[in-house]
Amino acid sequence: MRVLTGLQPSGALHVGNYFGSIRQMKQLQDNSDLFIFIANYHALTSLRDGKALKTNTLDAAINFLSLGIDPNKSTFWLQSDVKEVLELYWILSSYTPMGLLERAHSYKDKVAKGITANHALFSYPVLMAADILLYDSQVVPVGKDQIQHVEITRDIAIKFNNEFGDVLTIPEFKVDEIVATVPGIDGAKMSKSYGNTIYIFCTEKQLKKTTGKIVTDSTPLENPKDYSTCNIFALAKLFLDESGQDELKERYKKGGEGYGHFKIYLKELIWDYFEPARLKREYYLAHNDEVRDILNEGAKKARAIAAKKIEIIKDKVGIL
Ligand code: ADP
Ligand code: TRP
Repeated sequence: MRVLTGLQPSGALHVGNYFGSIRQMKQLQDNSDLFIFIANYHALTSLRDGKALKTNTLDAAINFLSLGIDPNKSTFWLQSDVKEVLELYWILSSYTPMGLLERAHSYKDKVAKGITANHALFSYPVLMAADILLYDSQVVPVGKDQIQHVEITRDIAIKFNNEFGDVLTIPEFKVDEIVATVPGIDGAKMSKSYGNTIYIFCTEKQLKKTTGKIVTDSTPLENPKDYSTCNIFALAKLFLDESGQDELKERYKKGGEGYGHFKIYLKELIWDYFEPARLKREYYLAHNDEVRDILNEGAKKARAIAAKKIEIIKDKVGIL
């Protein structure tokens, strides 16, 4: 089964990104035909600093490779390296009613927030449809905010097929309901926009500082503590197997340890958990050429499929 997803190169990754998304991608590359790319053309709709976009794009590739996206198990490339996607984007644009895009929540939300709309922001879902349809993707794993974009893709594809026969594969979206929301250091959903994140690739000193700021109640050190309402525990359990979780629960119940101890324990858990990723990242940061080679290889694999598909589509619509 072909599963496709696009990743925005949107800066430093946090623990919520890992447990809410990247870990699932690692499972998908083991048991499906995973197509995964860095959506740098999508990022261009909102990032107007060329140097920053280049850096973010390469950083994103390095971060995802370091955290376990494996180019031998998946097809991993840079969106802009397969130019057919822009050809398809234009062709699909000609088959996309304005009303379909005018209804897009994500566009309306951005405009409501005061973001100056450009045409690319408006037609963002058409590029996303091209990403999905160019590779005959069957399943698109998405966060809730992206469901409508896959629905728009389906609408465009169905409309196209009504005219030309069974040319495009109609994709399904898949929302992982089981994945719990990872809390930030204040207990609200961890998110860049709330300033409550624990970044994966920070220094040990920064990690100590951030985990030290996790909000707790004020139960005195000697007293038993309630792990079920504790933000430290909610984060620690992500890094522990069942017996590790049981041991930690016992420490909470016993009393005699303060939240300061649990914060230090959590810091150690996070630091050790991401140690292999950190080492890989250091390697890739020092070997940018290798990262480029990996992306080029991925683009080659993706292009082999894209080139055939675009020929069929161009032939149908009448582009010589
Ligand atoms: P942010 O809210 O920090 O801007 P993004 O929207 O860039 O995060 O998140 C990218 C992906 O990471 C999302 O699609 C979602 O699956 C996952 N994710 C982000 N934050 C969390 C969280 N707190 N809990 C679970 N998953 C998350
Ligand atoms: N719009 C997606 C996001 O913001 C990224 C993306 C671009 C994507 N193209 C895609 C996701 C195709 C899935 C399929 O997260």
